[in-house]
Amino acid sequence: MTTKTTTMQRGWSRGSYFLTKTTTPRGSHRRHHHEHVGFRFPHHAQRTQSNASAFAAKKKTTTTNATTSSSKSNDDDTNNKSDERHEKKKRENIEAAHHGHVSVLLSEVLDAFKPVKIQTHIDGTLGAGGHATKVLEQHKEEVKTFVGFDVDETAIEIARPRVERSLGVDDASGGEKKSNDGGVALHFVRNNFDQMRAALRDIGVDGADSILLDLGVSSMHLDRAERGFSFQNDGPLDMRMCGGTTSASSSSSSSSSLTAFDVVNGWSEEDLGRIFRDYGGERHWKLLAKRVCERRMEKPIETTLELVKALGNPPGKREKIHPATRAFQAVRIVTNDELGVIERVIPQAIEVLNPGGRLAIITFHSLEDAIVKKQFRKFAGVPESREPTVGRSAMMFLPPEEFDDASSSNPSSSPKIVKMINRKPIGASEEEIKVNARSRSAKLRVVEKL
Ligand SMILES: C[S@@+](CC[C@H](N)C(=O)[O-])C[C@H]1O[C@@H](n2cnc3c(N)ncnc32)[C@H](O)[C@@H]1O
Repeated sequence: MTTKTTTMQRGWSRGSYFLTKTTTPRGSHRRHHHEHVGFRFPHHAQRTQSNASAFAAKKKTTTTNATTSSSKSNDDDTNNKSDERHEKKKRENIEAAHHGHVSVLLSEVLDAFKPVKIQTHIDGTLGAGGHATKVLEQHKEEVKTFVGFDVDETAIEIARPRVERSLGVDDASGGEKKSNDGGVALHFVRNNFDQMRAALRDIGVDGADSILLDLGVSSMHLDRAERGFSFQNDGPLDMRMCGGTTSASSSSSSSSSLTAFDVVNGWSEEDLGRIFRDYGGERHWKLLAKRVCERRMEKPIETTLELVKALGNPPGKREKIHPATRAFQAVRIVTNDELGVIERVIPQAIEVLNPGGRLAIITFHSLEDAIVKKQFRKFAGVPESREPTVGRSAMMFLPPEEFDDASSSNPSSSPKIVKMINRKPIGASEEEIKVNARSRSAKLRVVEKL
């Protein structure tokens, strides 16, 4: 009975490519390799350090480095203890925030995967692991491999123990996956899901029976002011889902280094206006872009509340939503290249699926859904309509080759390799919308590989 947990990072750091992988025998010390070292190990062997203490050890290293560099400190022990307490509190807060993330369309996702015999499940947007744990619980009897991607390191730290618990391979369950006698391999990949094919090759996973993408940010991103997504609490104008530390890469390396600050302070008034209009659906896009550009002439806009102030109130009747909502959404979408990654991941995910395997995608924005719909139709061999599914204005932001693809009509070039499970997207029920307002705009589309 075996488990294997690997964590990978791949990305660009100060212009140089790096690939590091942490292979973690559950319960033993973390090892850092520059090559993949795959192995299986007995559950009860080498259990000398729990995940929690491995985390503490990692934090301690960070604290030690910080203390070394401030050589004037006379009371290292006290500082370390207080830093550790601070880190612990911070982690508790983060966990509380992330556990507050309510998974949308959960029963609909479970229904979509129910008929599939899942030996390998991939969650491309692990988040707090809400969907992943439920899918794994539902398919506990047959699952052999799980791969969870997230660009955000904190998400992985939070999801990992929850995923292990769902399979009964955590410490509390005695480390045994009771319902499956062949063991289970768990891989946690800190990378952009648009690198799916290469990342799976690196960890030796060559097919999947189910893949889920639950797009967008999690509550944790929105609730933590320091991540720079919040228009309620002040924070640096960042908005990178990867957090900007040793960042996970996208195929467009700029996507991990571009920050909201760069967009707000560096883009032309015309481009800001276009993104407010196309990605935010902001009616007063021209006015808001003008206001931002006037304000930044005085000094750079550095924080989220400075941006809120610069945007000001749009004219007209006060709406239910915060006046900065749409502009913030637009800046977040471009900062994380949220439409580009969907374009890039779908062909990879479909390629990776085993025959009979299913890909389920939850979107929250009409432009995201338009891309998913268009690509699913293409791979299902449905002739494209002459009308581009992606609106003209939005196509202005696609790279030229994607613009051509989005506007051309060539059904014969797309062999049918999937079938659509639902022709119309599945939305949230009235009951779900009542308890989780975020689900209002959620749409689920599912395809099955032939
Ligand atoms: C909506 S949350 C997922 C929540 C999760 N399904 C749950 O039930 O807990 C989306 C997560 O995907 C991650 N994410 C978003 N875009 C990503 C990308 N292109 N590659 C990898 N992770 C991404 C975010 O960091 C976030 O943690």
